[in-house]
Amino acid sequence: MCYDNADGAFGRQPASPDSPSRRAFSRLLLAGTGLAALSACTPAQSFTPSGTPGPTPDPTPGMGSATPTAAAAASSPPASSPSATPAPAAAAAVPPSAAAPPPSAAAPGPQHSLTDPTSAWVIVNKHRPLAPATFVPPDLVRPAVRLATSGEAALLNSTTAAAAEKMFAAAAAEGVIITLASGYRSFATQTATYGSWVRAQGQAGADTASARPGYSEHQTGWAFDIGDGSGADAFTPQFKDRPAAIWAKANAHRFGFVVRYPWMLHEITGYFYEPWHLRYIGTAAATDMSARGIGTLEQYFGLEPAPAYL
Ligand code: DAL
Ligand code: ZN
Repeated sequence: MCYDNADGAFGRQPASPDSPSRRAFSRLLLAGTGLAALSACTPAQSFTPSGTPGPTPDPTPGMGSATPTAAAAASSPPASSPSATPAPAAAAAVPPSAAAPPPSAAAPGPQHSLTDPTSAWVIVNKHRPLAPATFVPPDLVRPAVRLATSGEAALLNSTTAAAAEKMFAAAAAEGVIITLASGYRSFATQTATYGSWVRAQGQAGADTASARPGYSEHQTGWAFDIGDGSGADAFTPQFKDRPAAIWAKANAHRFGFVVRYPWMLHEITGYFYEPWHLRYIGTAAATDMSARGIGTLEQYFGLEPAPAYL
């Protein structure tokens, strides 16, 4: 069964996830945390896993202190390895000199490539572009979920689609509607999307919310944005308080997903809070990451923070 809101059955269409129509969000981002904070963390700067927010509640963006604290502290730069061994949670409690990750700290199950875009663990950020830049997932399919989009944006890779179907169904069984608002995005689409952002916000503003072409997880087929069918708070930080976002934050790991751009971790991820953007990494890793209170894939896999393009 495949749902589609082309007839409006699931409410009005939310704003495009990466269109300049997200002005309210951008204003909050720019006024609240400031670009200086984003750019202050150089590529050589590292982080301490103890800075991860874990279960800390999400404050309202743009309100209160604008100084990010997570990821602000420096330690010895973590090794960036093409093979993937998740960083140990225990590293948070030991000095850098003793922070060698024990093998037992690795995520359960088989390890996967961090560079191959067909790998569920591929890490794409401002330091790690897709290779090739014009990669197209070989197994794009349209998942049988409630759709709030169409065309290529309604596609995911086959593994992500299957997991999304299970997750959306589980949420629905608990009375929570989740819609697929934006899935796959080709290099060409991302070029247009990012260009729109730059024209509306300037490059610095665009870079806080929209990936440059060749740098978006959406191009991998492993990521998608969710809505709730109402359009309310779509693609704004307030979406975190919608039942769909609350449910996803609490349950997504059971289906292999993580909220990829958490609150106040933009100095690591390079992007401000996106409670709607989910990324598939598999149930074992997602559950392990959740249980250990690790907020970002960069921290989980022991990679350097990527606050800005190199
Ligand atoms: N909004 C996310 C960062 C993207 O453009 O992929
Ligand atoms: Zn997204």
